[in-house]
Amino acid sequence: MNTPSSPVQSFFDFVAHAPTAFHAVEETCTRLQAAGFTRLDERAPWRIAPGSRCYVTRNRSAVVAFCVPEQGLSHFQIAASHSDSPMFKLKPNAEDSSSAPYIRLDVERYGGMILSSWFDRPLSIAGRALVRRKGRLVTRLVDFGRDALLIPNMPIHFNRSVNDGYSYNAQVDLLPLYAGAEAKGALAREIARACGAGEADVVSSDLFLYNRMPGSVWGAGNEFFSCPRIDDLECAYTSLQAFLAAPARGHVNVWAMLDNEEVGSGSKQGADSTLLGDVLARVCAALGMEDAQARAAVSSSFMVSADNAHAVHPNHPEKYDSLNRAFMNGGVVIKHNANQKYTTDAVSQAIFSEILAHAGVPVQHFSNRSDVAGGSTLGNIANTHVSMNTVDIGLAQLAMHSCYETAGTQDVAHMIRALTAFYGANILPHGDGEYAIE
Ligand code: CO
Repeated sequence: MNTPSSPVQSFFDFVAHAPTAFHAVEETCTRLQAAGFTRLDERAPWRIAPGSRCYVTRNRSAVVAFCVPEQGLSHFQIAASHSDSPMFKLKPNAEDSSSAPYIRLDVERYGGMILSSWFDRPLSIAGRALVRRKGRLVTRLVDFGRDALLIPNMPIHFNRSVNDGYSYNAQVDLLPLYAGAEAKGALAREIARACGAGEADVVSSDLFLYNRMPGSVWGAGNEFFSCPRIDDLECAYTSLQAFLAAPARGHVNVWAMLDNEEVGSGSKQGADSTLLGDVLARVCAALGMEDAQARAAVSSSFMVSADNAHAVHPNHPEKYDSLNRAFMNGGVVIKHNANQKYTTDAVSQAIFSEILAHAGVPVQHFSNRSDVAGGSTLGNIANTHVSMNTVDIGLAQLAMHSCYETAGTQDVAHMIRALTAFYGANILPHGDGEYAIE
């Protein structure tokens, strides 16, 4: 069922190349380039012709790609996901000898992670560094690519309450062990080696701990798979596959993978930035559209905010709404929230579910229990900058924000089919509240 060429194995390959948001973007650029896309720079004028396929990165941790049709640009159809996952980030002065003869690293939490999942497993370090080179500062990706450190649990003999809801202190319990005392200075040396620069030329870095454990397919019938960063690389990967496969049909297909969703999207490269709006505006301008035409195109557009959903946990089914609950391998999940944490409304649900019904992709609906706050995602935040009909979707997964998450093997293909159908359909508004799907 899951041969090496299966969609799940291909997803594992993507995840293995994407230990951080920077690497996810780099891997994506490689794939876009191989598919014939041209790289644009936000700092330069854009020349875009009908039929152009282009992409642009911001901060090298977010990317927006688009395909312009040969003729008749009427609107945009966008799928947006996020590149980041909850991880530990190294502080600037990270090497800590205060617990001699050990060397630990000083780290802080990025995003809302399940802390216990990070203990007692080999971890590595990846991210980016700025290095001096020929009178310039240049970005270098960093990946130690080896088992380099570990956060050890306290033995139960010294922590009898560890199984009784123990509260971890991020500054005490979570600092990883990196070396013995004789290795003083090893971190700076290893960072320099990893980015191919002299130690004195490494000026700064954004480095994270990551779980190197490869993906695994499991279950009696290979129903499930587990791997790091399923949230949200599963949606990023499947939407990219769909984007690359879909034909252009009279609208501009857009694929966006934005950063910093796990900390509220409020950065220059997140959904709460100008990035997506800038790209749409510049595409319109480069194609000679006037401001009013560009605004008409954006308001005729449709966005899919793709971020994973919670599958019912087998040990805690009581935590989920009794009617609006999702299961792994049950197909694409449409997410609903009356308070607009999710953008889905009757209009966007109707349009998107019609496309899925036509494509024969199973659909599930998710709402939180009314006494559970639930999470949020990037769709409603992006909507405050580029306002258009938007549906929030995802695939059902377990253990969200663990460093090793679990999802359904059939769902990878479900999402690729769903979003290929979305990009291939032409969603045409006829006034406010009436739509044709061609
Ligand atoms: Co997410």
